Amino acid sequence: MQKKRIRKAVFPVAGLGTRVLPATKTVPKEMLTVVDRPVLQHCVEEAREAGIEHFVFVTGRNKAVIEDHFDIAYEMEETLQRRGKLKELEGLQADLPAAGATSFTRQQLPLGLGHAVWCARDIIGDEPFAVLLPDMITLPGAGGKRCLQQCLDTYNEHGGNVIAVEQVPMEDTHQYGVVAKGQDFGASFEIAGMVEKPAKGTAPSNYIISGRYVLEPQIFDLLAKGQKGAGGEIQLTDSMIELAKTQKFFARHFDGKTYDTGSKLGFLAANVAFALARPDIEPGFRAELKRIVGTL
Ligand code: UTP
Repeated sequence: MQKKRIRKAVFPVAGLGTRVLPATKTVPKEMLTVVDRPVLQHCVEEAREAGIEHFVFVTGRNKAVIEDHFDIAYEMEETLQRRGKLKELEGLQADLPAAGATSFTRQQLPLGLGHAVWCARDIIGDEPFAVLLPDMITLPGAGGKRCLQQCLDTYNEHGGNVIAVEQVPMEDTHQYGVVAKGQDFGASFEIAGMVEKPAKGTAPSNYIISGRYVLEPQIFDLLAKGQKGAGGEIQLTDSMIELAKTQKFFARHFDGKTYDTGSKLGFLAANVAFALARPDIEPGFRAELKRIVGTL
């Protein structure tokens, strides 16, 4: 299959975040802070590092603050300038996507991840694109590459569609989308089958779909059918299963670390791991952490 440059990424951010209530009563879960920036900002940085040029956010009601976060904070920047806090000012400016590099659309109702991705169809158009689930944030693996960059490496090698996978204990597979392993290519393998939330004991492997995708635009025609799957939601996995009948799918076994900030434990673990990975924060934080751990 012909390979094209992946320029656009979709960030589905319309979920309700019920697993991290009460924090998400008024604050979108994607805006909760890991170290000193929103979860979503970590994810956008990963996409930028991978060469993504246009960021498409599928939002919902009560999520307007996301749009503000990716705009200039005029009063804040003017005050920082006046007070000579230039380091902070430069930090804000460096994080800001270029004017016109973001799009926002609304899902209207949280009908499922597949439906959220479908809402981006007109903005994506007829080109392959990336999807990043923003509550999954990653620390780099081999060669300093984060998950999306590794998926793009696989795409550039094989073309087709690419899904990031990781391994979990077999007894946990019923909570996830699971792929079956086909031909092995080292860091990647061809996907021989997929299933969303398999019944206990029936998963075809322990490789779970972990929140980064490169998809061909034909996925939109299948998502348009709006078929409901596991949990009564329009599942992305179901349309990928359909698309796999006519196109190839590859799995990229990400060798860095992934944290699910959509759960309370994952969110806490992410804060610890990301703080320890920050040279400016690590020394002080390590000492504090040792003090806490010493009391356990
Ligand atoms: P999750 O299932 O983790 O999100 O979906 P959720 O529904 O917010 O979670 P809980 O279980 O209630 O805590 C994965 C991603 O897909 C987005 C979510 O925002 C999240 O980033 N999503 C999910 C949507 O954008 N729309 C949906 O209808 C469902």
